[in-house]
Amino acid sequence: MGIQIVPARTADFHQVLSEHSRYWGERDLRSLHLLALVQEFGSTCLVARAEDGIHGYIFGFVTPTGTGYVHLVATRDDARGSGLGRRLYAAFAEAAERQGARQLKAITSVGNTGSIAFHRSLGFDARIVDDYNGPGRAMAVFRRALPLTALTP
Ligand SMILES: CC(C)(COP(=O)(O)OP(=O)(O)OC[C@H]1O[C@@H](n2cnc3c(N)ncnc32)[C@H](O)[C@@H]1OP(=O)(O)O)[C@@H](O)C(=O)NCCC(=O)NCCS
Repeated sequence: MGIQIVPARTADFHQVLSEHSRYWGERDLRSLHLLALVQEFGSTCLVARAEDGIHGYIFGFVTPTGTGYVHLVATRDDARGSGLGRRLYAAFAEAAERQGARQLKAITSVGNTGSIAFHRSLGFDARIVDDYNGPGRAMAVFRRALPLTALTP
C-alpha cells in the first residue's frame, strides 16, 4: 500500500496523540493538538497513512489573508530523513494553494534546531521574533512564498 497522504480522520488524531512521544520525543505538545482543527480545516490537516500506522502529519489552515499556516508538522521516529516531512509540506502547500494561499508560515521554539534546519531546507526564511509568544518569549518564525513548484527537489 505504501504511504498515502490524506486528510486526517478523528481516529488518526487520537492515534498520533496516543503515540505522542514517537513524533515529539520528550516534549509534551499534546495541548497544541486540537481536534477542532481537524474538524474545521479538514483539507489542510493531513496524515501520511501506511499499513503500520501514521508515519507523519501536518495540521494547518489558510488565513483570510492568504497564508497557509502550519500549526504542527511531525514525522514518526522511524520515518525521519526519508523525505516524508518534505512530502507532507508539498501536500499541504497544494491544498493551501487551492484555497487561495500565496505564502506559507510556521513557527517553532527558538531551541528547535532540527525544525529550523528542516524549514530552511524547504526554502523558508527563518527569523527570531522577540516577544512573539509574549514578553521575553521569542519564537522562530518561518515564511516562504508559494507556489509549490520550488518546494520539491
Ligand atoms: C522536523 C521533521 C518534521 C523533519 O521531518 P523529516 O521527515 O525527517 O524531513 P525530511 O526527510 O523530509 O527532510 C527534508 C529536508 O530537511 C532536512 N532536515 C530534516 N530534519 C533535519 C534536522 N534535524 N537537521 C538538519 N536537517 C534536517 C533534511 O536533511 C532534508 O534536506 P534536503 O532535502 O535538502 O536533503 C522531523 O524531524 C520531526 O518530526 N521532528 C520532531 C517534531 C518537530 O520538531 N516538528 C517541527 C515543529 S515546527
